[in-house]
Amino acid sequence: MKTPIKDFLYGGDYNPDQWPQESWGEDIQVFKQAKINSATINVFSWAALSPAEGEYDFSKLDAIVDELSAADFKIIMGTSTAAMPAWLFKKYPEVGRVDYQGRRHVFGQRHNFCPTAPAYRRLAADLVDHLAARYADNPHIVAWHVNNEYGGTCYCEHCQQAFRGWLKDRYQTLDRLNAAWATSVWSHQIYHWDEIVVPNELGDAWGPEGSHTIVAGLSLDYLRFQSAMMQDEYRLEKTTIEAHDPQTPVFTNFHSTPNKLIDYQAWAKDQDVIAYDSYPAYDTPAYQPAFLYDLMRSLKHQPFLLMESTPSQVNWQPYSPLKRPGQMRATELQAVAHGADSVQFFQLKQARGGSEKFHGAVISHAQTTKTRAFNDLEKLGDDLEKLGPQLLGSTNQAKVALVFDWANYWALEYVAGITQDLDYCQLILDYYRQFYDRNVPVDVISVDDDFSQYDLVVAPYLYLVKPGLADRLTAYVKGGGHFLTTMMAGMVDENDNVYLGGYPGPLKELLGIWVEESDAFPPAQEVKVALGQQTTAGSLLADLIHPEGAEVVATYASEFYAGTAAVTKHQLGQGTAWYVGTRLAPAGLSALIDQVLAAAKVTGLTADQPGVEVTKRVQKDGQSYYFVLNLTNQSASLPKEFAQGYVDCLTNQAPAARLAPWAALVLKKTN
Ligand code: GLA
Ligand code: ZN
Repeated sequence: MKTPIKDFLYGGDYNPDQWPQESWGEDIQVFKQAKINSATINVFSWAALSPAEGEYDFSKLDAIVDELSAADFKIIMGTSTAAMPAWLFKKYPEVGRVDYQGRRHVFGQRHNFCPTAPAYRRLAADLVDHLAARYADNPHIVAWHVNNEYGGTCYCEHCQQAFRGWLKDRYQTLDRLNAAWATSVWSHQIYHWDEIVVPNELGDAWGPEGSHTIVAGLSLDYLRFQSAMMQDEYRLEKTTIEAHDPQTPVFTNFHSTPNKLIDYQAWAKDQDVIAYDSYPAYDTPAYQPAFLYDLMRSLKHQPFLLMESTPSQVNWQPYSPLKRPGQMRATELQAVAHGADSVQFFQLKQARGGSEKFHGAVISHAQTTKTRAFNDLEKLGDDLEKLGPQLLGSTNQAKVALVFDWANYWALEYVAGITQDLDYCQLILDYYRQFYDRNVPVDVISVDDDFSQYDLVVAPYLYLVKPGLADRLTAYVKGGGHFLTTMMAGMVDENDNVYLGGYPGPLKELLGIWVEESDAFPPAQEVKVALGQQTTAGSLLADLIHPEGAEVVATYASEFYAGTAAVTKHQLGQGTAWYVGTRLAPAGLSALIDQVLAAAKVTGLTADQPGVEVTKRVQKDGQSYYFVLNLTNQSASLPKEFAQGYVDCLTNQAPAARLAPWAALVLKKTN
């Protein structure tokens, strides 16, 4: 059993090793002034800790740990394995990744280790072993932070060897592999395991990050394999820590929108806590970070840590406008609203040099606390000091589940035809947004989750249906569940080979339809769709649907298939299964989702929808906390439901009827 983190963490990445020791005490005073209580250290210090193989000097890290411990900081201890020292590359060039053009990385950058290279694994584990042995007993260390933002892909000789072994485990025989990869197409039969080569620009290309494929089974397996190898490297570091410190939680920080190359659902079981780095761009609409937070929370169905965010600007976007007054507080509280038990920043002190010197920080280059940004951080610190203990460990409860699946993310985006515009995240977000705009809480779950706790399960673009899934969905619907999926669903098995007998393959009986073919539209071309009283539009694809038991909910109103079904619903047992055959325009999708929610008897946290975000966390004692967030630069009205009977947890006052731009309230019911 791991010791849970007992406090709501407010802090972030701190690199005191970049600064003279005399300055650390002053930094800590500044952090304390902002009520900061945690620091993540040692994320990128391998070269500082070890000047050569087998040589270690922990004196500086000891001093940092001592100083933070004396100040009663909660320390998150990095393992430093994400940026390799120059000597390591020089001695063992194999530690550098090989890219898909076959070029090997030389010393430089970070996040470019090969996960299977023996020298990398051995020396990373050795470093972690020394760190864990040294700091295992420090009670101020509340978590271990392994590596950093795993991602990317390696195509080196070591990976190729390991891939062949991984395939042997998976398929046992080459006959099975040949069948799975459909190698009879284009003379691809494999007769010996050592004929298998990793994807390459001049071989079975797949385009950067799987944008298209020649051998779908190979592409899919290589993505699975690389995610598994990165996970294996993560586990190596984790178990090395646990040999010395079995109690303190261990995790790595997840990132991106979400990261395509790492199957976070497969990784979740190895994370003691989910930690997520959130960097929405200046023009990212608020529903997108909300979706990512819901995904992170749902990975373990537990609160997560907001591991990194920026207190002001980042340095890597094309434009980094200043966060407007109130924006930093509101956007950090958005993460908390969706289940974060921390607010943490990259970084606590702005560097003088290097590529991130213009990235925002708690202590800026001005090195004074008399700045607008610091003032805002101080205010947030005051608020979190009050809110944190009340919220810690409280949960979000959802009756709607949206399915997000990495195998589909991969397979759908590299599919060779019939449109190149299958952006899985964007398509999933079409649906997420419908619930977000209605303040309907959503869990973003995997295909392996238990569906029975939800009234509605929405699985858009469920292209790849692995064995057992269709049966589980059918049982869910028969038992009274509501299920919705879309075009592209049920087309292929887990090897990306088509289910014969009409789409959507194993989901046909559940949906009460079969799909004969699908029209693909170039951008800007649409098909008209008649849905109830309205005429709306469909884009991207239009399935030509044969209802077989399903009722027609909407029909196409143009093209040669005008009058045929565009949306259907099928009553099965106690439940209903909906099929949407085209990418409905927002107004049409909204009307459809109204019907689906009504049928599933799901309502939002507010009926009044003035464009503010409302979420709820519920504490173990039953106390509900309502987050009412105006995540815009315009003022807005308080949803009517909160006009009476609620108080602001910070002021104990009733909320005002108008919400200022970026207003962020946490309310509870008056007793
Ligand atoms: C990532 C990394 C950090 C830092 C930030 C900057 O999240 O984990 O080390 O580079 O980006 O935004
Ligand atoms: Zn490799």
